[in-house]
Amino acid sequence: MEEQKKTLYSAVQPTNGLTIGNYIGAIKNWVQLQSEYDCFYAIADMHAITVRQVPAQLRQKTLSLLALYIACGVDPEKCTLYVQSHNPCHAQLAWVLNTFTYVGEMERMTQFKDKSAKHADNINMGLMDYPVLMAADILLYQTDVVPVGIDQRQHLEITRDIAIRFNNAYSPTFTVPEGIYPKVGAKIGDLLDPSKKMSKSAENANGSIFMDDDRDTIIRKFKRAVTDSNTEVKYDPENKAGVSNLLSIYTAFTGKSIEEAEREFAGCGYGDFKLAVGEAVADKLAPVQAEQARLLADKAYLDGVLKRGAERAYYVANKTLNKVHKKIGFYQI
Ligand code: TYM
Repeated sequence: MEEQKKTLYSAVQPTNGLTIGNYIGAIKNWVQLQSEYDCFYAIADMHAITVRQVPAQLRQKTLSLLALYIACGVDPEKCTLYVQSHNPCHAQLAWVLNTFTYVGEMERMTQFKDKSAKHADNINMGLMDYPVLMAADILLYQTDVVPVGIDQRQHLEITRDIAIRFNNAYSPTFTVPEGIYPKVGAKIGDLLDPSKKMSKSAENANGSIFMDDDRDTIIRKFKRAVTDSNTEVKYDPENKAGVSNLLSIYTAFTGKSIEEAEREFAGCGYGDFKLAVGEAVADKLAPVQAEQARLLADKAYLDGVLKRGAERAYYVANKTLNKVHKKIGFYQI
């Protein structure tokens, strides 16, 4: 008898352009894990609206992100791909979990503090409640593992706390999930300031490589990446943050180990090294971009994937939601 697969859940927000940080920290690992787990990969549009979006763009970015997942190698025949807002269980469970979460906990979240500073004119309740919605996403599917970048670790910890709190208050209801972080590349740095994470919304777009950047742009941005006054291509995040960041990107895109890469660039100047990293990234992204464009031309296919995804997501999530409603005493008819 086939052993039942464990469940994996992850999501990305359809905001701005995705960066290679999102790819290395998350999507690349999704592809590697998709045969081993029963995978749910969502497009987190409900999280996206915590920052004001242009409606037509949000619609377009949602479909474009689905096409990108598939172009990167996520297989819709193996995984459940869906849009978060297509499954009403997320909002329903988030409401219940809100009553198991303390305001103080949310105020302490690093991402809330950062985003509040950045969007001081719109510190809405959704921004603060963001981690509870994320907990609902994960817990609805009885998720065992969540592959994400390091910046999501705090959200994952609070998800675990909420699950344990609920389980203790009633009886075991939620699986308590574990985060999976890539060994190298869990936090890809900005090319111009590697102490900061590479971000979709960085002030200077030259520090981020976007998944839809063309070859010339990619190579130009890598050429400008900060390194150090030394000349050695060596992985040492403490003292050589820029070079180490470039090595992480290079190994993620080539499949080589850090040691192999260090050997390859021994004695080579930073200029040649940066060019090689840029070329490796551009070589890998070109076919992904072409495939994404091809998929986007077939809207009927993409809508079909999302329809099937929403149905399965609802079926699985609703089972958990019903359990929760029963346990907390909601009257059932
Ligand atoms: P988002 O859209 O900000 O980022 C998507 C994924 O990319 C990772 N990531 C990075 N990894 C390495 N280096 C970087 N510079 C970098 N920047 C981003 C993130 O860690 C993330 O894995 N809240 C989530 C979306 C979400 C979610 C979920 C994730 C909603 N519900 C449930 C997991 C489970 C977010 O905003 O990701």
